[in-house]
Amino acid sequence: MTLLIVDNEKCKKDGICAADCPMAIIKLENKEGPKIVPGGDEFCLRCGHCVAVCPHGALSHKEIPLENCVPLKKALSIDADQAIQFLRSRRSIRSFKDKPVEKGTLKQLIEIGRYAPTASNSQLVTWTVFSDKKQIHDIAGMVIDWVKGILEKDPQPAYAPYMPIIAGAWDMGFDAVLRSAPGLILASAPKEASNGLVDVTLALSYLELAAPPFGLGTCWAGLLYGAMRSHAPIREMLGMTDNVPFYYPMMIGHPKTRYYRLPERKTPKILWK
Ligand SMILES: Cc1cc2nc3c(=O)[nH]c(=O)nc-3n(C[C@H](O)[C@H](O)[C@H](O)COP(=O)(O)O)c2cc1C
Repeated sequence: MTLLIVDNEKCKKDGICAADCPMAIIKLENKEGPKIVPGGDEFCLRCGHCVAVCPHGALSHKEIPLENCVPLKKALSIDADQAIQFLRSRRSIRSFKDKPVEKGTLKQLIEIGRYAPTASNSQLVTWTVFSDKKQIHDIAGMVIDWVKGILEKDPQPAYAPYMPIIAGAWDMGFDAVLRSAPGLILASAPKEASNGLVDVTLALSYLELAAPPFGLGTCWAGLLYGAMRSHAPIREMLGMTDNVPFYYPMMIGHPKTRYYRLPERKTPKILWK
């Protein structure tokens, strides 16, 4: 069985698909159309490059059919200035409206998250969505329990000098952990994912970048992540197992804030070799 389906009337035998195949399993032989080399099917990454790169629409793939690969719309391409402003204007949002996030919108954002690259195209990232404010508040409370446990042993931890402020704010009724967000997204990957934390991070980055046009804002929940790594009660509450060692949480909601300027960052250190 071969995974490639070639329309010989459309195929120009230009070899573009073979040259672009990441696993080099497509060959053109004896002026014939492209074929997967014997035994090559099992190495196919199912990335869809062969279908996407053919200018003639001559190739389909059994698992990535041509008709499911939507054509790129030139009119929607962005130029360099648009890309720079789009990426530079992404902001961590820490102040949310008291308004639930629609399930349909979250689903759309997760759909976008799945187009982030994954090592070997494994696509093993899974998503858990919390949308009950009370439950999210309880999770933040458990992070505070973890923080207070640390502070009992070391009132001024040098590696996390902000911890006393976070705990103090909580006691005064302010949630500096999850910022009273109406939504919390947890992206995870199982141990089979060879670069699971990178996959998870990229998927969440895609989601984060896509959120503003949908009227939403996000913030990486680093404190919760810290607690998830070592605090047994929170691990139990979130149903975490050793089989899923890669994960990261992200707050999400309708931003209260709006930004008018693009602050400068540190100059990058570059070693030109
Ligand atoms: C891995 C990671 C963890 C973070 N954890 C938190 C957090 O727990 N709470 C928070 O308010 N911001 C958190 N942030 C947001 C950073 O503080 C923020 O990205 C940085 O200050 C730059 O601001 P900007 O994202 O608006 O550009 C985190 C960011 C990253 C990448």
